[in-house]
Amino acid sequence: MTEKKRITFPENFWWGSAWSAEQAEGRGETGKAETVWERWYKEQPYRFYNRIDSSITTDHIHRYKEDVQLMKETGHNSFRVSISWARMFPDDGVGTVNPKAIAFYKDLFTEMNQNGIKVFANLYHFDMPAKLQDKGGWESRDVVDAYVHFADTCFKEFGDLVYHWFTFNEPLGPILGSYLEDFHYPNIIDFKRGAQAAFFTILAHAKAIQAFKKYSFESKIGVILNLSPTFPRSQNPADVQAAKIADLFYTRSFLDPMVKGEFPSALVDLLAQNQQLPADYTESDLTIISENTAQILGLNYYEPRRVKARSSAVNPESPFLPEWFFEPHIMPGRRMNEYRGWEIYEKGIHDLCMDIKNNYGNIESFISENGMGVANEERFMDESGQVIDDYRIDFIKDHLAYLWLAIEDGCNIKGYHLWTFIDCWSWINSYKNRYGLVSLDLPTQKRTIKKSGEFYKQLSDDNGFDYDVDLLVR
Ligand code: BG6
Repeated sequence: MTEKKRITFPENFWWGSAWSAEQAEGRGETGKAETVWERWYKEQPYRFYNRIDSSITTDHIHRYKEDVQLMKETGHNSFRVSISWARMFPDDGVGTVNPKAIAFYKDLFTEMNQNGIKVFANLYHFDMPAKLQDKGGWESRDVVDAYVHFADTCFKEFGDLVYHWFTFNEPLGPILGSYLEDFHYPNIIDFKRGAQAAFFTILAHAKAIQAFKKYSFESKIGVILNLSPTFPRSQNPADVQAAKIADLFYTRSFLDPMVKGEFPSALVDLLAQNQQLPADYTESDLTIISENTAQILGLNYYEPRRVKARSSAVNPESPFLPEWFFEPHIMPGRRMNEYRGWEIYEKGIHDLCMDIKNNYGNIESFISENGMGVANEERFMDESGQVIDDYRIDFIKDHLAYLWLAIEDGCNIKGYHLWTFIDCWSWINSYKNRYGLVSLDLPTQKRTIKKSGEFYKQLSDDNGFDYDVDLLVR
């Protein structure tokens, strides 16, 4: 039997959480262009769990003052929002900026600052204005220009209210969802078009950073990436090679150009061999990408990636996909969050941070998302209506313990943001899995702090917690 010891985080550690505009704000009355999510729901409502769309979600647009108080009550000293491009430019993402959107975000950010909550503002979280998607979305240079104009407008309007900026949340997500795996509009299966969209997303990131540098803000600008350490099934060379390739597609593809300013040559070679390189790119694009890299990095960590060598031949008639080179590996004995289908592997957070330390210049980083979505949480309500989510508290502690170990090992980690604050709308899963520190009763919009929300307040006040550190392995 070992003893618990107090784990303490560095001074001024960022404690908070994150969400995004489309998932939490609701449409409201400011005026807003149709987004791809609203469009997709109109076309295929049956793709969304319980047919719930994004028109109301968590109604933050009307309740932001109450919500900022809840942030305080749950220990937030920082919080990540996204700014809705469609709200800022209600004429389909271009044209004249919307004064009502500016007023809303200014009010929200001022309210947060006045309550001691740093504003982390993200410029894009999967919410393309639908008409810009019609013009090609991220496959179009015009859309890149429209995005940079939107970004620059946000820097100008909100620059003195924002603590740190982010160009994109999980830019890989829309590429996988829209071009490879059929879970984002417009549901195309075409790797080469996806590669073009990925390239222009990376260019948009660099051009937004270039625009940001014209100002002399104290804040930094970076990007938030979903990263999973990749593990081969075994040390068999075929498994190791499979893991290397999976890692190139899912980890290095965005991390290298966005943080180091260069594309991994092994990935470029592999795409060239398979005629999958984007058709439209120039030397000057590559220069802009190499000169404008992230100044801070957000790490979204949910689960590890485990792969093995393929055991069957690829059908050469099938569309080109990363899975041509590997198969997922289901590790015997793995622990699962069955509601979401994701493995729970807290040690992965340490492995991920060490990769950033060793291979990405130990860039200033933080955990920008980590969390546990659970279905039917009403089951865990006590008679007062509070969700007693001890499983979430354990999940947070186990991950934080490994994050602490990473900091002990020299990783430049500045904070931890949970996904999420109040239960919010999860894209095609709508409100199936709840992630919040605060529960939401959808019909009434009543918010109730969960047991994990109380724990989070204590954690933030104490800047640490007691844990059996002898359980940790490197
Ligand atoms: C992250 C996204 O990947 O995971 C969030 O940034 C998302 O937008 C979260 O909500 C949880 O995933 P899901 O699919 O359960 O909503």
